Formats: sequence, structure tokens, C-alpha cells
Amino acid sequence: MHNILKLSLALLLAGTTAHAQQLTIEAGKPTATIQPTMWGIFFEDINFAADGGLYAELVKNRSFEFLHPMMGWKTSGKEGSMLIENRYQTHPENPRFATIRVNGSFGIVNEGFRGMGVRQGEQYDFSMLARQADGAPMRVSVYLVNEKNEKIGGATLNKIGYDWKTHRVTFICSQTAEKAKLEILFDGNGVIQADMISLFPQQTWKERPGGLRKDLVQKLADLKPGFVRFPGGCIVEGKDLANRYQWKTTVGDLQQRKVIMNRWNVEFAHRNAPDYFQSFGLGFYEYFQLAEDLGAAPLPILNCGMACQFNSSEVVPLDELDPYIQDALDLIEFANGGENTKWGKLRAEMGHPAPFGLKHLGIGNEQWDRQYFERYQQFEKILKEKHPEILLISGTGPYSDGKMFDDAWAALRKTKADLVDEHYYKHPDWFLRNAKRYDTYDREGAKIFAGEYAAHDKEQPAAESRNSWFSALAEACFMTGLERNADIVHMASYAPLLAHVEAWQWRPDLIWFNNLTSICTPNYYVQQLFSNNTGKQVISILQDGKVIAGEDSLYASATIDREAGKLFVKLVNSAAQPKKIDLRIKGVSAQQEVISTTLHAADLMAYNTIQEPQKVYPEKGMLTGKRGELSLELGAATLQVLEIPVKR
Ligand code: AHR
Repeated sequence: MHNILKLSLALLLAGTTAHAQQLTIEAGKPTATIQPTMWGIFFEDINFAADGGLYAELVKNRSFEFLHPMMGWKTSGKEGSMLIENRYQTHPENPRFATIRVNGSFGIVNEGFRGMGVRQGEQYDFSMLARQADGAPMRVSVYLVNEKNEKIGGATLNKIGYDWKTHRVTFICSQTAEKAKLEILFDGNGVIQADMISLFPQQTWKERPGGLRKDLVQKLADLKPGFVRFPGGCIVEGKDLANRYQWKTTVGDLQQRKVIMNRWNVEFAHRNAPDYFQSFGLGFYEYFQLAEDLGAAPLPILNCGMACQFNSSEVVPLDELDPYIQDALDLIEFANGGENTKWGKLRAEMGHPAPFGLKHLGIGNEQWDRQYFERYQQFEKILKEKHPEILLISGTGPYSDGKMFDDAWAALRKTKADLVDEHYYKHPDWFLRNAKRYDTYDREGAKIFAGEYAAHDKEQPAAESRNSWFSALAEACFMTGLERNADIVHMASYAPLLAHVEAWQWRPDLIWFNNLTSICTPNYYVQQLFSNNTGKQVISILQDGKVIAGEDSLYASATIDREAGKLFVKLVNSAAQPKKIDLRIKGVSAQQEVISTTLHAADLMAYNTIQEPQKVYPEKGMLTGKRGELSLELGAATLQVLEIPVKR
């Protein structure tokens, strides 16, 4: 028997009822209002999610600022040399550049992020900050080359002058390649100095130059997220304070965004990624813009004066916390301030005169213990005084229960935190057992932000394999409990969001990609089915007068949007046998034609891959009921979402 099936035997075997189970919906008596922020996304630059992923730059180490300045670069030919010069005392933000001395023909080659994904017929924008430092003007050409080193597109730059200037050229690519490289060829006799060497596809999200990967943003848009949490995650904390995430170094001129090592570079010995750095081409301005594009609330998380507690015990002394709190105040000004303010002006200069409408701010990521609460309170005191309109989010640390978790809640209850962030990375069984988690939570005080969760199934070799159907099914069961408790659960996000199949550090993840394509996991489809079928109010769905949260392996939640005239029902069967369901809808006039979407796989361990992206895929159909009544068979191991038209 299948391992996973064995593991969850108790739960799965319970559901063998032959007669129909009677479920009643009371549509006339809403039990909670659902926040527009209910289902959101958690973005962290982990697994090459930003550089090498969402940020469409194809050149790795474009400004030679990696620890090893030549990482990602090689030279070609013998008639020249390449040297990296470092002017860190005069240009601390972007100190290095390349000096290329040529006597004949000489090239430099960039390998990209595990290669460069390029497409036949598409245009590519090359740019390079350069000057001719010595000798006669040289001919400078750029080429894309495929895996066989054949040229598949290119162009020649205009003459490089004696002053630093950004030189640009656009060319078309003649062949699709997943692992192309960029070659810059210098012909002549002289010296050229170069920095910020960049190649972008023109086809980015909203065709923005230097923008984001279109297929990935489209997948985010299709989730219709209520919020975008950024930039993490542990990346906010840094391994040490010097390498914490500092939003101010990620905005303004690209050349001034100081590159640092990504904390996931060396986090896991078995998944080392020595070439993982943060260029911050995707910085705070771009995150706000992304949230706006997606119609989602921006939710930045800021460092609270503490480095990652798993890595170091480094904290800033309490009496030196002011610059950190000032960063928070300045961020609010950057997002919401007028053009006449210092940071609002920068936002306007970057292209967004209108405010971004920031309403939420997270203080610290996954911190714990007294050192966190003391620091959080200092932030809270000043932020609540100066910006009472901003909802503050505080955290409970890495665990979903236990002493550390209880201590956190005890301490946070005494604060004015608006939302408390809980994290749970657990075995699927935990999700099956915990659908009632919030039924008994305190209804007063801070609301819940289920800020990071994912069911962690068995490890298998294929990158995408941990995103099994079983893990997604378990999450669906649990999410019915989040939805039922929407009076206190105001935000929830699966984590992490994105992962490169060849460069991941953490799994499971919601969306997998390589250099050319991306796929949705079963977990993605669960998220999508919830977020795209959310009413405005929760209504009760009961069996024998009780909530349906795992008894007999059945889980259910129901919501209504009266204005839109739609009632949504989510039914999840975690059993190995199908169930007959009779649904009675009271308190509203329900129509007969029902849209039904089912997500199911016969094999609980099934997962989607780049090669087979639709092994687990939602199927749409129609069901016909009588007025106010619907009978259906809910398949084994199935999530079924019903959209029932109701009279307004
Ligand atoms: O999502 C991956 C990591 O899990 C996050 O960075 C951190 O907050 C949590 O431990």
C-alpha cells in the first residue's frame, strides 16, 4: 500500500458512508465578513525567485559585485585580457567595473542564471555602461549563442566614447534556447571599461523595459490575490544585521542599489547556491507596483533590529533602534507621502506620483522571545502615534504551537498589534487534523495573518515532487477552516511562492519554473479555487447541526456575495471513497444551474512537472439541482467548488 495512504489511513478509511450525507446551508444568516485581503501571496527571494526568476534580467552578476567578481563570466579568445577594478572608497554602492584590454579580437561571455532562456522571434534589449579608456575606437558586438555555441541573434553597438555612458542596442533572437549565453566581442586595439551589462526580453509583464517575467506575473494575477507580502521571509532578517534587507538600498537608480549576498546562498549545505545574490533590480518600488498591478494590498515586512535567530543572536541594542524605526516611517512616506516629501518625491521620480495606498506593515518576520517583543513595542509606540491608519503585523515565531508560540501570543496580546502572523510548515496530516484550529480562538483583539503555510509531504528526487496532490488536498481541508473563521482570520498566504527547478533551496513551493516556462502546482490550484471563489460573507454549512471539519473525512465552507448573486461552497473529501452529498440551501433563492469545479488525482502522490504540467488540473462542469437542493457525488480525495447563482 502507498506510504502516504498508510499514514493517513485513519482519516481516509473513516469516509465509507453509503447513504447520502445531509448538509444544510443557512444563507440568510452570515456569520462573518470576509476581508478583501483574505487570500494573498507571500513573495520571498528564495529559490531564485527574484534574480533568475521574476526579475527578467538575463545577465548574472551584471555589475561584477558578487563575492567572486568574475562569477558568471568567462573570457573568450587570447588577444586580450579582463581585469576587475574596485573603487570602493569613492563608489561604495557599485564599486566594481571591468577593464577589457584588447589587441585583436577578444570576448567576454555571461552564462546567465543556469543559462538564459530566449525565444525565437522575440526582441532583446542589451545595455552596457561603458567608456573607451584608451586606444582607437573599437568595434563592439553582442551575440546570443545557443548550447552548441551557434550565434542566434546579435547586433553591433554604436561607437563607445571616452565618457561613461549607457549604450543600448536591440536585436531579434532567431532560435528558442533554454540555456543560451551572451557574448560581447571587442575588435580593435584599445581599452574599454564596462559595468551594468544587461540583457532583457522586450516581452516583459506590461512590456515594461527592465521589467518582470510575463508568464510568472500572469500566474500571480490569475490568483487574484488580496495582498502581496514582500520581501519575505527570513530574507528580511538577514544572516546578520549587516546583510538584513534594507528597503532604501533597493529603490532609485539601479546602479546605486547595492548588491548583497542572498541569505539563501549558503543556508543549506545540501542546496548551496554560491551564485545567489540580490541585485535589487526587483526592489521596493517594483514590489509596490506589482501589488498595484495585481489589484492587491501591498504588505511590506521590515527588519525589527534583529538578525535571523536560527543563524545568529545578533540584535541592535534597544537604545539604537531609532534608525530602524525611522526606516519604517520613511517607508510609509515613500508609499503614501506627497510629492513634496523627501521619500514621496523619490517615488514620483521613479514614475509613480500617486500614492501606493499602503495600509499594512509587518514588523519583524519570524522572531521570538523577549528580544522581539521589546523591539516590536518600540516600533508600535511610534508608529501608532504617527500613523494610526497603518495596521501593524507582529509575529509568533516559526512554530504553530508549543511554549514559544504561547509565550508570543501572551506577550502580543498586551500590545496593540492589529494582526498576528502565524506560520505552519507541517505534515499533511497536521492540516487534516487542524481544520478546527480557529473555531475556538479568542474573538477579541488581534486578528490572524496565516502568513506562511504549506503541507510538507515526503521528499522525493524530482524538484516539483513535494507538491503532491495529497499535500494540496490537506491544505484545502485546512483552508475551509480559515474561511469559516474569516471573522478573525483576515489574511492567509501559502509559502514560498516561486522556485527555479534547477536552483531551489526550499520546497514545496507554489509555482515552479525553468528559464522558459512555468507550471502551477496542485497547491496553486487549491489556492486559486479558494481565492477566485470567495464571497463577501461567510455563511454556515452544517451537518447534524455541526461544522464540517474532518468528521468522516469531510470538510466544507460556504460564502455568499449577494451583490454578485453568487453563493460558493467548498467541499473536500479526504477519504479514499466517494461520498453522496445532499445539499439544502435555506434563506436565499438558489438557482438550478450550478458551476462545479473539481480538483482530483487518483494517485495521492501525483504532482505536476515542467514536462507534465496538468497531471492535477481543475475540471469545470455543470450540475443541475432543484431549487434550494442539490445532490452530488463528491469524489474520493477531491476538492469540489460550487458556484450557485442566487437571486439578488
Ligand atoms: O518560506 C521559507 C522560510 O520559512 C521563510 O523565509 C521563513 O520565514 C520561514 O522559516
